[in-house]
Amino acid sequence: MKYGCIGERLPYSFSKEIHAELGDYEYEIREIAPDDLDAFAEVADFQAINVTIPYKERMLPHLAELDEGARAVGAVNTVVNRGGRLFGYNTDIYGMTKLFEHAGIDARGRRAAILGSGGTAKTARAVLTRLGASEIVTVGRRETENTIGYERLAAEHRDIDIIVNTTPLGTFPDVRVTAAVEFGAFPKLAGVIDAVYNPLRSALVLEARRLGLRAEGGLYMLVGQAVRASEIFFDRRYPEGTLEEVYQKVLLRKENLVLVGMPSSGKSTLGAELARRLGREFCDTDTVVEERTGLTVGEIFARHGEARFREEESAAIRELSVRTGLVIATGGGAVLNADNVTELKRNGRLIFLERDLDELTPTDTRPLTSDREALKRKYAERLPVYRACADMTVRVEGLPAELAKKTIERLFNE
Ligand code: S3P
Repeated sequence: MKYGCIGERLPYSFSKEIHAELGDYEYEIREIAPDDLDAFAEVADFQAINVTIPYKERMLPHLAELDEGARAVGAVNTVVNRGGRLFGYNTDIYGMTKLFEHAGIDARGRRAAILGSGGTAKTARAVLTRLGASEIVTVGRRETENTIGYERLAAEHRDIDIIVNTTPLGTFPDVRVTAAVEFGAFPKLAGVIDAVYNPLRSALVLEARRLGLRAEGGLYMLVGQAVRASEIFFDRRYPEGTLEEVYQKVLLRKENLVLVGMPSSGKSTLGAELARRLGREFCDTDTVVEERTGLTVGEIFARHGEARFREEESAAIRELSVRTGLVIATGGGAVLNADNVTELKRNGRLIFLERDLDELTPTDTRPLTSDREALKRKYAERLPVYRACADMTVRVEGLPAELAKKTIERLFNE
Protein backbone atom coordinates (compact mmCIF):
# COMPACT_ATOMS: atom_id res chain seq x y z
CA MET A 1 0.00 0.00 0.00
CA LYS A 2 1.30 3.43 -0.91
CA TYR A 3 -1.49 5.64 0.42
CA GLY A 4 -4.51 4.61 2.46
CA CYS A 5 -6.25 4.34 5.78
CA ILE A 6 -5.76 1.73 8.49
CA GLY A 7 -8.13 0.80 11.29
CA GLU A 8 -9.62 -2.30 12.82
CA ARG A 9 -13.03 -2.34 11.12
CA LEU A 10 -13.71 0.04 8.26
CA PRO A 11 -16.82 -1.07 6.38
CA TYR A 12 -18.35 2.40 6.80
CA SER A 13 -15.38 4.50 5.68
CA PHE A 14 -15.91 7.30 3.13
CA SER A 15 -12.19 8.11 2.97
CA LYS A 16 -11.48 6.40 -0.32
CA GLU A 17 -13.96 8.49 -2.22
CA ILE A 18 -12.95 11.71 -0.48
CA HIS A 19 -9.31 11.18 -1.47
CA ALA A 20 -10.44 10.32 -5.01
CA GLU A 21 -11.78 13.90 -5.18
CA LEU A 22 -8.49 15.32 -3.95
CA GLY A 23 -6.04 13.89 -6.45
CA ASP A 24 -4.97 11.15 -8.75
CA TYR A 25 -3.55 8.63 -6.29
CA GLU A 26 -4.55 5.15 -5.18
CA TYR A 27 -5.97 5.21 -1.67
CA GLU A 28 -6.58 1.86 -0.02
CA ILE A 29 -8.77 1.03 2.97
CA ARG A 30 -6.95 -1.61 5.01
CA GLU A 31 -8.33 -3.38 8.07
CA ILE A 32 -5.60 -4.50 10.47
CA ALA A 33 -6.15 -6.80 13.44
CA PRO A 34 -4.87 -5.43 16.78
CA ASP A 35 -2.18 -8.13 16.98
CA ASP A 36 -0.80 -7.16 13.58
CA LEU A 37 -0.48 -3.42 14.13
CA ASP A 38 3.05 -3.37 15.54
CA ALA A 39 4.41 -5.51 12.71
CA PHE A 40 2.64 -3.30 10.17
CA ALA A 41 4.19 -0.17 11.68
CA GLU A 42 7.67 -1.73 11.92
CA VAL A 43 7.73 -2.84 8.29
CA ALA A 44 6.16 0.50 7.28
CA ASP A 45 5.54 -0.55 3.72
CA PHE A 46 3.69 2.63 2.81
CA GLN A 47 4.32 6.19 1.73
CA ALA A 48 1.69 7.99 3.81
CA ILE A 49 -1.42 6.83 5.62
CA ASN A 50 -4.34 7.87 7.73
CA VAL A 51 -4.87 6.06 10.99
CA THR A 52 -8.22 5.61 12.63
CA ILE A 53 -9.93 3.90 15.58
CA PRO A 54 -8.47 2.14 17.55
CA TYR A 55 -4.89 2.91 16.48
CA LYS A 56 -4.58 6.67 16.78
CA GLU A 57 -2.78 6.34 20.09
CA ARG A 58 -1.25 2.91 19.61
CA MET A 59 0.74 4.20 16.64
CA LEU A 60 2.71 6.69 18.75
CA PRO A 61 5.63 4.46 19.90
CA HIS A 62 6.48 3.80 16.25
CA LEU A 63 6.87 7.44 15.32
CA ALA A 64 10.16 9.32 15.17
CA GLU A 65 8.55 12.76 15.33
CA LEU A 66 5.19 14.33 16.05
CA ASP A 67 3.73 17.65 14.95
CA GLU A 68 2.53 20.06 17.62
CA GLY A 69 -1.11 18.99 17.45
CA ALA A 70 -0.30 15.29 17.71
CA ARG A 71 1.87 16.02 20.72
CA ALA A 72 -0.82 18.14 22.38
CA VAL A 73 -3.55 15.58 21.79
CA GLY A 74 -1.50 12.42 22.21
CA ALA A 75 -2.98 10.87 19.07
CA VAL A 76 -2.19 10.86 15.35
CA ASN A 77 -4.41 10.33 12.32
CA THR A 78 -1.75 10.89 9.64
CA VAL A 79 1.64 9.19 9.31
CA VAL A 80 4.23 9.92 6.63
CA ASN A 81 7.17 7.65 5.87
CA ARG A 82 10.27 9.68 5.00
CA GLY A 83 13.08 7.28 4.18
CA GLY A 84 12.01 4.81 6.83
CA ARG A 85 11.41 7.45 9.54
CA LEU A 86 7.76 7.87 10.48
CA PHE A 87 6.36 11.34 11.12
CA GLY A 88 3.02 11.68 12.90
CA TYR A 89 0.44 14.44 12.45
CA ASN A 90 -2.98 15.21 13.79
CA THR A 91 -5.21 16.72 11.11
CA ASP A 92 -8.39 15.88 13.05
CA ILE A 93 -7.78 19.09 15.00
CA TYR A 94 -8.05 21.08 11.77
CA GLY A 95 -11.10 19.04 10.67
CA MET A 96 -12.95 19.54 13.92
CA THR A 97 -12.11 23.24 14.06
CA LYS A 98 -13.61 23.63 10.59
CA LEU A 99 -16.65 21.61 11.68
CA PHE A 100 -17.37 24.05 14.52
CA GLU A 101 -17.10 26.91 12.03
CA HIS A 102 -19.34 25.14 9.49
CA ALA A 103 -21.92 24.38 12.20
CA GLY A 104 -21.93 28.03 13.29
CA ILE A 105 -21.19 27.04 16.88
CA ASP A 106 -19.04 29.55 18.72
CA ALA A 107 -17.25 27.95 21.65
CA ARG A 108 -15.66 31.13 23.04
CA GLY A 109 -16.55 31.55 26.70
CA ARG A 110 -18.91 28.55 26.52
CA ARG A 111 -19.14 25.46 28.70
CA ALA A 112 -18.77 22.19 26.82
CA ALA A 113 -19.24 18.49 27.53
CA ILE A 114 -17.34 15.92 25.49
CA LEU A 115 -18.94 12.47 25.31
CA GLY A 116 -16.38 9.68 25.10
CA SER A 117 -12.80 9.36 26.21
CA GLY A 118 -10.87 8.00 23.20
CA GLY A 119 -8.60 9.76 20.71
CA THR A 120 -11.35 11.90 19.19
CA ALA A 121 -12.33 13.10 22.68
CA LYS A 122 -8.79 14.34 23.15
CA THR A 123 -8.98 16.10 19.79
CA ALA A 124 -12.25 17.73 20.86
CA ARG A 125 -10.63 18.94 24.08
CA ALA A 126 -7.70 20.47 22.19
CA VAL A 127 -10.07 22.18 19.72
CA LEU A 128 -12.42 23.52 22.40
CA THR A 129 -9.43 24.83 24.35
CA ARG A 130 -8.08 26.61 21.27
CA LEU A 131 -11.52 28.03 20.50
CA GLY A 132 -11.67 29.53 23.99
CA ALA A 133 -14.23 27.34 25.78
CA SER A 134 -14.45 28.40 29.43
CA GLU A 135 -15.01 24.94 30.86
CA ILE A 136 -14.69 21.44 29.38
CA VAL A 137 -15.86 18.20 30.98
CA THR A 138 -15.27 14.75 29.56
CA VAL A 139 -18.04 12.22 30.06
CA GLY A 140 -17.67 8.46 29.90
CA ARG A 141 -19.35 5.26 30.94
CA ARG A 142 -16.85 4.82 33.74
CA GLU A 143 -15.73 7.56 36.11
CA THR A 144 -11.97 8.07 36.08
CA GLU A 145 -9.70 10.85 37.25
CA ASN A 146 -10.49 12.93 34.15
CA THR A 147 -13.88 11.58 33.22
CA ILE A 148 -17.27 11.96 34.90
CA GLY A 149 -20.23 9.61 34.40
CA TYR A 150 -23.44 10.50 32.51
CA GLU A 151 -25.48 10.83 35.69
CA ARG A 152 -23.09 13.35 37.14
CA LEU A 153 -23.18 15.34 33.92
CA ALA A 154 -26.95 15.79 34.23
CA ALA A 155 -26.80 16.40 37.97
CA GLU A 156 -23.82 18.75 38.22
CA HIS A 157 -23.38 20.39 34.81
CA ARG A 158 -26.84 21.60 33.89
CA ASP A 159 -25.40 24.84 32.57
CA ILE A 160 -23.40 23.44 29.63
CA ASP A 161 -23.86 25.20 26.29
CA ILE A 162 -22.29 22.67 23.90
CA ILE A 163 -22.20 18.88 23.62
CA VAL A 164 -19.64 17.13 21.42
CA ASN A 165 -20.15 13.41 20.84
CA THR A 166 -16.95 11.53 20.10
CA THR A 167 -18.25 8.02 20.83
CA PRO A 168 -19.09 5.80 17.86
CA LEU A 169 -22.65 5.38 19.19
CA GLY A 170 -25.18 5.85 16.43
CA THR A 171 -22.86 4.78 13.60
CA PHE A 172 -24.28 2.58 10.83
CA PRO A 173 -25.82 0.01 11.19
CA ASP A 174 -26.97 0.80 14.75
CA VAL A 175 -28.26 4.21 13.75
CA ARG A 176 -30.97 4.60 16.36
CA VAL A 177 -28.60 4.38 19.33
CA THR A 178 -27.33 7.48 21.17
CA ALA A 179 -25.17 8.23 24.17
CA ALA A 180 -27.18 8.45 27.39
CA VAL A 181 -27.91 12.20 27.34
CA GLU A 182 -31.31 13.85 27.64
CA PHE A 183 -31.04 17.29 26.07
CA GLY A 184 -33.92 18.45 28.25
CA ALA A 185 -31.61 18.29 31.28
CA PHE A 186 -29.54 21.18 29.89
CA PRO A 187 -31.61 24.36 29.61
CA LYS A 188 -28.75 26.46 28.17
CA LEU A 189 -27.74 23.94 25.52
CA ALA A 190 -27.28 25.73 22.18
CA GLY A 191 -25.17 23.48 19.98
CA VAL A 192 -24.42 19.82 19.35
CA ILE A 193 -21.53 18.39 17.34
CA ASP A 194 -21.40 14.69 16.52
CA ALA A 195 -18.26 13.15 15.04
CA VAL A 196 -20.41 10.34 13.57
CA TYR A 197 -20.80 10.84 9.80
CA ASN A 198 -22.58 7.66 8.73
CA PRO A 199 -25.53 8.27 8.93
CA LEU A 200 -25.09 11.85 7.73
CA ARG A 201 -27.35 13.03 10.55
CA SER A 202 -27.09 10.81 13.61
CA ALA A 203 -29.97 10.23 16.03
CA LEU A 204 -28.30 12.78 18.31
CA VAL A 205 -28.13 15.42 15.57
CA LEU A 206 -31.74 14.80 14.50
CA GLU A 207 -32.97 15.07 18.09
CA ALA A 208 -31.02 18.30 18.63
CA ARG A 209 -32.42 19.81 15.43
CA ARG A 210 -35.93 18.76 16.40
CA LEU A 211 -35.45 20.89 19.52
CA GLY A 212 -34.27 23.81 17.40
CA LEU A 213 -30.60 23.55 18.39
CA ARG A 214 -27.69 24.01 16.02
CA ALA A 215 -26.36 20.56 15.27
CA GLU A 216 -23.97 18.99 12.75
CA GLY A 217 -22.63 15.53 12.05
CA GLY A 218 -19.03 14.63 11.34
CA LEU A 219 -18.80 14.67 7.54
CA TYR A 220 -17.33 18.16 7.36
CA MET A 221 -14.66 17.15 9.87
CA LEU A 222 -13.93 13.98 7.92
CA VAL A 223 -13.42 15.91 4.70
CA GLY A 224 -11.41 18.59 6.52
CA GLN A 225 -8.95 16.14 8.04
CA ALA A 226 -8.60 14.41 4.65
CA VAL A 227 -7.82 17.67 2.83
CA ARG A 228 -5.12 18.56 5.34
CA ALA A 229 -3.76 14.98 5.36
CA SER A 230 -3.51 14.96 1.57
CA GLU A 231 -1.62 18.29 1.73
CA ILE A 232 0.85 16.66 4.11
CA PHE A 233 1.12 13.47 2.02
CA PHE A 234 2.22 15.44 -1.05
CA ASP A 235 3.63 18.55 0.57
CA ARG A 236 1.26 20.80 -1.35
CA ARG A 237 -1.57 23.26 -0.65
CA TYR A 238 -5.09 23.05 -2.03
CA PRO A 239 -6.88 26.24 -2.96
CA GLU A 240 -9.15 27.90 -0.40
CA GLY A 241 -12.62 26.41 -0.81
CA THR A 242 -11.46 22.85 -1.54
CA LEU A 243 -12.92 21.55 1.72
CA GLU A 244 -16.32 23.12 1.03
CA GLU A 245 -16.36 21.89 -2.56
CA VAL A 246 -15.41 18.28 -1.76
CA TYR A 247 -17.84 18.25 1.18
CA GLN A 248 -20.75 19.36 -1.02
CA LYS A 249 -19.87 16.76 -3.65
CA VAL A 250 -19.59 13.86 -1.23
CA LEU A 251 -22.72 14.96 0.66
CA LEU A 252 -24.78 15.11 -2.52
CA ARG A 253 -23.52 11.73 -3.67
CA LYS A 254 -24.37 10.10 -0.33
CA GLU A 255 -27.70 11.76 0.34
CA ASN A 256 -30.93 10.04 -0.54
CA LEU A 257 -33.12 12.22 -2.72
CA VAL A 258 -36.55 11.85 -1.14
CA LEU A 259 -39.58 12.96 -3.13
CA VAL A 260 -42.62 14.06 -1.15
CA GLY A 261 -45.95 15.45 -2.30
CA MET A 262 -49.54 14.70 -3.20
CA PRO A 263 -50.71 11.49 -4.86
CA SER A 264 -50.45 11.92 -8.65
CA SER A 265 -47.97 14.79 -8.34
CA GLY A 266 -45.42 12.68 -10.25
CA LYS A 267 -43.12 11.37 -7.49
CA SER A 268 -42.69 7.92 -9.03
CA THR A 269 -42.24 9.25 -12.56
CA LEU A 270 -39.70 11.92 -11.62
CA GLY A 271 -38.03 9.56 -9.13
CA ALA A 272 -37.41 6.89 -11.75
CA GLU A 273 -36.09 9.49 -14.19
CA LEU A 274 -33.76 11.05 -11.59
CA ALA A 275 -32.45 7.61 -10.62
CA ARG A 276 -31.79 6.68 -14.23
CA ARG A 277 -29.90 9.87 -14.96
CA LEU A 278 -27.86 9.73 -11.75
CA GLY A 279 -27.18 6.00 -11.95
CA ARG A 280 -28.90 5.43 -8.61
CA GLU A 281 -31.28 2.84 -7.26
CA PHE A 282 -34.93 3.94 -7.18
CA CYS A 283 -37.22 2.87 -4.33
CA ASP A 284 -40.88 3.63 -3.81
CA THR A 285 -42.22 3.27 -0.25
CA ASP A 286 -45.58 1.98 -1.53
CA THR A 287 -43.78 -0.72 -3.53
CA VAL A 288 -41.68 -1.71 -0.51
CA VAL A 289 -44.89 -1.99 1.54
CA GLU A 290 -46.46 -4.16 -1.16
CA GLU A 291 -43.39 -6.38 -1.28
CA ARG A 292 -43.21 -6.71 2.50
CA THR A 293 -46.88 -7.60 2.88
CA GLY A 294 -47.62 -9.39 -0.38
CA LEU A 295 -50.72 -7.18 -0.74
CA THR A 296 -51.48 -4.11 -2.85
CA VAL A 297 -51.93 -0.79 -1.05
CA GLY A 298 -55.66 -0.97 -1.88
CA GLU A 299 -55.92 -4.46 -0.37
CA ILE A 300 -54.18 -3.39 2.85
CA PHE A 301 -56.61 -0.47 3.27
CA ALA A 302 -59.62 -2.67 2.49
CA ARG A 303 -58.69 -5.63 4.66
CA HIS A 304 -56.78 -4.06 7.55
CA GLY A 305 -57.51 -0.34 7.50
CA GLU A 306 -55.37 2.77 7.22
CA ALA A 307 -53.64 2.39 10.59
CA ARG A 308 -52.13 -0.91 9.51
CA PHE A 309 -50.99 0.63 6.24
CA ARG A 310 -49.28 3.45 8.14
CA GLU A 311 -47.41 0.94 10.31
CA GLU A 312 -46.17 -0.89 7.26
CA GLU A 313 -45.24 2.40 5.61
CA SER A 314 -43.20 3.48 8.65
CA ALA A 315 -41.43 0.11 8.67
CA ALA A 316 -40.58 0.53 4.98
CA ILE A 317 -39.24 4.03 5.68
CA ARG A 318 -37.09 2.79 8.57
CA GLU A 319 -35.63 0.17 6.25
CA LEU A 320 -34.81 2.64 3.46
CA SER A 321 -33.64 5.56 5.59
CA VAL A 322 -30.46 3.87 6.85
CA ARG A 323 -29.27 3.43 3.27
CA THR A 324 -27.52 6.11 1.22
CA GLY A 325 -27.41 7.22 -2.41
CA LEU A 326 -31.00 6.25 -3.24
CA VAL A 327 -33.83 8.09 -4.92
CA ILE A 328 -36.93 7.46 -2.78
CA ALA A 329 -40.53 8.25 -3.71
CA THR A 330 -42.76 8.41 -0.64
CA GLY A 331 -46.50 7.81 -0.44
CA GLY A 332 -48.54 11.02 -0.27
CA GLY A 333 -49.34 10.63 3.43
CA ALA A 334 -45.91 9.47 4.60
CA VAL A 335 -44.60 12.79 5.90
CA LEU A 336 -47.70 13.53 7.99
CA ASN A 337 -46.01 11.37 10.62
CA ALA A 338 -43.17 13.36 12.20
CA ASP A 339 -41.18 10.21 13.00
CA ASN A 340 -41.17 9.31 9.30
CA VAL A 341 -39.78 12.76 8.50
CA THR A 342 -37.02 12.31 11.09
CA GLU A 343 -36.16 8.93 9.59
CA LEU A 344 -36.10 10.27 6.03
CA LYS A 345 -33.87 13.18 7.03
CA ARG A 346 -31.26 10.87 8.56
CA ASN A 347 -29.60 10.43 5.18
CA GLY A 348 -31.97 12.30 2.95
CA ARG A 349 -32.72 15.60 1.26
CA LEU A 350 -36.48 16.10 1.03
CA ILE A 351 -37.77 17.46 -2.25
CA PHE A 352 -41.38 18.61 -2.39
CA LEU A 353 -43.03 18.16 -5.79
CA GLU A 354 -45.46 21.04 -5.94
CA ARG A 355 -48.24 20.59 -8.45
CA ASP A 356 -51.44 22.63 -8.68
CA LEU A 357 -54.61 21.04 -7.39
CA ASP A 358 -56.27 21.23 -10.85
CA GLU A 359 -53.51 19.12 -12.30
CA LEU A 360 -53.81 16.34 -9.74
CA THR A 361 -56.08 13.43 -10.67
CA PRO A 362 -58.22 11.25 -8.41
CA THR A 363 -57.52 7.51 -8.96
CA ASP A 364 -59.41 4.33 -8.05
CA THR A 365 -56.28 2.61 -6.79
CA ARG A 366 -55.62 5.35 -4.22
CA PRO A 367 -58.12 4.84 -1.40
CA LEU A 368 -57.70 8.28 0.20
CA THR A 369 -57.83 10.34 -2.97
CA SER A 370 -60.22 8.41 -5.18
CA ASP A 371 -62.51 11.37 -5.85
CA ARG A 372 -61.98 15.08 -6.42
CA GLU A 373 -63.54 16.21 -3.13
CA ALA A 374 -61.20 13.95 -1.13
CA LEU A 375 -58.23 15.09 -3.17
CA LYS A 376 -59.12 18.72 -2.49
CA ARG A 377 -59.42 18.13 1.27
CA LYS A 378 -56.14 16.25 1.47
CA TYR A 379 -54.41 18.94 -0.57
CA ALA A 380 -55.50 21.69 1.84
CA GLU A 381 -54.53 19.65 4.85
CA ARG A 382 -51.15 18.49 3.55
CA LEU A 383 -49.73 21.45 1.67
CA PRO A 384 -48.34 23.12 4.83
CA VAL A 385 -46.82 19.82 5.97
CA TYR A 386 -45.04 19.27 2.64
CA ARG A 387 -43.75 22.84 2.70
CA ALA A 388 -42.53 22.57 6.29
CA CYS A 389 -40.53 19.37 5.84
CA ALA A 390 -39.02 20.15 2.43
CA ASP A 391 -35.38 21.07 1.95
CA MET A 392 -36.16 22.05 -1.63
CA THR A 393 -39.32 22.60 -3.70
CA VAL A 394 -39.68 21.63 -7.34
CA ARG A 395 -42.67 22.87 -9.32
CA VAL A 396 -44.00 20.12 -11.54
CA GLU A 397 -44.22 21.38 -15.11
CA GLY A 398 -43.09 20.19 -18.53
CA LEU A 399 -42.00 16.70 -19.47
CA PRO A 400 -40.51 14.40 -16.80
CA ALA A 401 -37.17 14.24 -18.63
CA GLU A 402 -36.88 18.04 -18.66
CA LEU A 403 -37.95 18.31 -15.05
CA ALA A 404 -35.38 15.72 -14.01
CA LYS A 405 -32.65 17.56 -15.89
CA LYS A 406 -33.59 20.87 -14.26
CA THR A 407 -33.81 19.29 -10.82
CA ILE A 408 -30.34 17.77 -11.16
CA GLU A 409 -28.93 21.13 -12.26
CA ARG A 410 -30.45 22.75 -9.20
CA LEU A 411 -29.09 20.04 -6.91
CA PHE A 412 -25.58 20.59 -8.20
CA ASN A 413 -25.76 24.38 -8.17
CA GLU A 414 -27.63 25.32 -5.03
C1 S3P B 1 -51.54 7.77 0.14
C2 S3P B 1 -50.90 7.86 -1.08
C3 S3P B 1 -50.45 6.68 -1.82
C4 S3P B 1 -50.33 5.47 -0.89
C5 S3P B 1 -51.56 5.31 -0.06
C6 S3P B 1 -51.77 6.49 0.84
C7 S3P B 1 -51.97 9.02 0.77
O1 S3P B 1 -49.20 6.96 -2.42
O2 S3P B 1 -49.23 5.60 -0.05
O3 S3P B 1 -52.65 5.15 -0.91
O4 S3P B 1 -52.17 9.01 2.01
O5 S3P B 1 -52.08 10.02 0.11
P1 S3P B 1 -49.02 8.02 -3.67
O6 S3P B 1 -48.84 9.37 -3.11
O7 S3P B 1 -47.78 7.52 -4.34
O8 S3P B 1 -50.22 7.87 -4.52
